[in-house]
Amino acid sequence: MAKDKLIIFDTTLRDGEQSPGASMTKEEKVRIARQLERMRVDVIEAGFPAASNGDFEAVKAVADVIKDSTVCGLARALERDIDRAGEALRGAVSGRIHTFIATSPIHMEKKLRMTPEQVLQQAVQAVKWARKWTDNVEFSPEDAGRSELDFLCRVLEAVIDAGATTINIPDTVGYNLPHQFGELIRQLRERVPNSDKAVFSVHCHNDLGLAVANSLSAVLNGARQVECTINGLGERAGNAALEEIVMAVRTRQDVFPCDTTIDTTQIVPASRLVASITGFAVQPNKAIVGANAFAHESGIHQDGVLKHRQTYEIMRAEDVGWTANRMVLGKHSGRNAFKTRLKELGIELPSEEALNAAFARFKELADKKHEIFDEDLHALVSDEAQLLESEIYRLVSLRVCSETGEIPHARVVLAEHGVEKAAEADGSGPVDASFKAIEAVVKSGAELLLYSVNNITSGTDAQGEVTVRLSKGGRIVNGQGADTDIVVASAKAYIHALNRLHSRLERAHPQV
Ligand code: KIV
Ligand code: ZN
Repeated sequence: MAKDKLIIFDTTLRDGEQSPGASMTKEEKVRIARQLERMRVDVIEAGFPAASNGDFEAVKAVADVIKDSTVCGLARALERDIDRAGEALRGAVSGRIHTFIATSPIHMEKKLRMTPEQVLQQAVQAVKWARKWTDNVEFSPEDAGRSELDFLCRVLEAVIDAGATTINIPDTVGYNLPHQFGELIRQLRERVPNSDKAVFSVHCHNDLGLAVANSLSAVLNGARQVECTINGLGERAGNAALEEIVMAVRTRQDVFPCDTTIDTTQIVPASRLVASITGFAVQPNKAIVGANAFAHESGIHQDGVLKHRQTYEIMRAEDVGWTANRMVLGKHSGRNAFKTRLKELGIELPSEEALNAAFARFKELADKKHEIFDEDLHALVSDEAQLLESEIYRLVSLRVCSETGEIPHARVVLAEHGVEKAAEADGSGPVDASFKAIEAVVKSGAELLLYSVNNITSGTDAQGEVTVRLSKGGRIVNGQGADTDIVVASAKAYIHALNRLHSRLERAHPQV
């Protein structure tokens, strides 16, 4: 008998973006969306259009370019939010409005200050309003994991009657345990009289490290859509990781009555792209996409794998996209080869000038590094996109002296709105000295929350990719920089974060 389809709903661009410091530009969202489409994700939640004009434009841009996946916009159960989402999705081949309102006693009483009857009415009105825009409407009772079962059943019956076609059950605060959450889904499907008129979905947070386990338990109890994110990115401890859900279902087909249509070979490229754009590095021991996920260190394991692979491997590294770094371009590659490879990677630069500028930087990089991998191209394009973001500060030059027994010293020249300014500083190391010199020009007073370096590919000639997280006045921003010289990459990342801190983009949070 043919198996059911498990719909994969990716919310990296919405819930993932709610991680402090993970906000993405329109161009970055489009790049990730294209990779999700290549991976054959069924639904891409591109953002919360009512949050800001920037988010509206980003959802619109994703809706306008994505053809093979449904593009979804989040909206509170308010007409103005729903209208914003509807407008942003106008250009989508297939669009979905996802509207939500909290149904748990604590959220209704303390956050919404509404009675359960008012919440029920507003949920129904919202779904009816959304149906004016599209017949693909998803409804979420926020904090369902702590809601009262009878009330939840009443709300769900009413919103399905009002036209909701997907019912998403969120464990908003990551409180549920797998057996409980599975049972909740089973009960809802049994007790809501019209439950067969909607697809049941789940959306689990990872506060107790159970997001994937809870989602899988729900699937075993009839859920046929899972909401998840690449690398498990998301609010607080994150959401269920897409790669873990997809590979658990694929690997344990003996247990699951359904399967996804995801192209699993695109998982690792997607993971790398999201890590590089957000600056949220993947821990080495992370399942499926961590650098060690398929590495066998112990002699006994290595021996076993060589004799018979399945002794220690339940999945094949190549099935999730772990191929050895492929050299794609080099010093002698021309503009056409460069443009073609970018196109294959789903990267479209906004103009011929942008392409020429990126090609010039590619040539500079190829002179230093000889072999250029896909990851290098992504980093190069991210760097190029930063230059196009509203830029206040730009690195003109950096000179660093660092010698054993001497105090490291840096001299930096920055252009501030095009006007060059220089400063010098000592530091405990070359990066520290550079940051102090930059700060002497900018005087931001921002607090450095995180500094991390990753090499994009292997080898000592690899580009270093640096993430810097800054906080000021309650705002948290990430900056990234890539270069074969990690001190220069660090300075670029710091300046990128400062530019983001100074940009006035403010976004509303959907759940606050
Ligand atoms: O966690 C949550 O409840 C959400 C909803 C908006 C679905 O993100
Ligand atoms: Zn969420």
